[in-house]
Amino acid sequence: MSNKSPIKIVISGAAGQIAYSLLPMLCNGNVFGKDQPIILNLLDIPSGLEIMKGVALELQDSGYELLSDLNLTINPIIAFKDIDIAILLGGFPRREGMDRKDLIDKNVPIFKSMGNILNEHAKSTCKVLVVANPANTNCLVTLKQATNIPKENFTCLTMLDYNRAKGEISRLTNKTLDQINKVVIWGNHSKTQYPDISHLDNIKILDNNEFIKTIQTRGDQIIKLRKLSSAMSAAKAISDHLRIWLVDGTQEGEYVSLGVYSNGAYGISNDIIFSFPCECKNGDYTIVGNLTLNQDTKNGILISEKELLDEKKAAGY
Ligand code: LMR
Repeated sequence: MSNKSPIKIVISGAAGQIAYSLLPMLCNGNVFGKDQPIILNLLDIPSGLEIMKGVALELQDSGYELLSDLNLTINPIIAFKDIDIAILLGGFPRREGMDRKDLIDKNVPIFKSMGNILNEHAKSTCKVLVVANPANTNCLVTLKQATNIPKENFTCLTMLDYNRAKGEISRLTNKTLDQINKVVIWGNHSKTQYPDISHLDNIKILDNNEFIKTIQTRGDQIIKLRKLSSAMSAAKAISDHLRIWLVDGTQEGEYVSLGVYSNGAYGISNDIIFSFPCECKNGDYTIVGNLTLNQDTKNGILISEKELLDEKKAAGY
């Protein structure tokens, strides 16, 4: 048994598919460490309660030593009380034929309310990862409402795109994943994101435009085939994002992509959540600010920045 005190984690949308894949990774110590006990607060809407009860039985039956307490609730005030980490999965999901930004009207009010509750009830040191789409703008909305918590504590998931890019490069070049460590996902977690492989050492792919399109539309492709959005790969990306950001940090010479609050790096507008190359150390990230960008990357970034500014406006900011 560990004598570390448990960290308290809330997962919203806990009855959903992503949570089902994510929970074992959290409970077996893959994310916060093999000696780090956790308390899980699982939150969903009333129609998810029975499912959460079933998931709770499965967690009990799995015998996870590190799971020191488990609470199920449909009340966000209870769920967010004194939490250290918020993983926000819950929101209206995207269906075939929709863009992620089509969810703004449905999901922005949810995230406004999450932000208010976080502000009132979570620890002010709480770290937040927003996954529900449109992830960047939902993250911005949450941060704007939660003014007691530093802006640097809010991130959104673009590790999924980053992992997709690495997987595709590996498939195309036969390099192992650990040889591919300087991919960057710039911008929005949407079809305008710009996957940039120009910083990779000695790796070239034949058709860069085709590669970019593959990564930009991978979410669509999965929805089309599964009739559901990605869940297993999203859960793996969440676990990588949290482990690298908050626990392990990045390796020497490696950077990862996180959606973070823009401080104007690379001339990107302030006050949007933008995916940047980041180095992580001791629970914090820093934007890698000194990359030289080619013209294609600069053009791609501008398109994604514009989309994020439009989404921000549509969200009422
Ligand atoms: C993904 O990229 O697979 C997720 O954001 C789900 C979606 O709507 O595409």
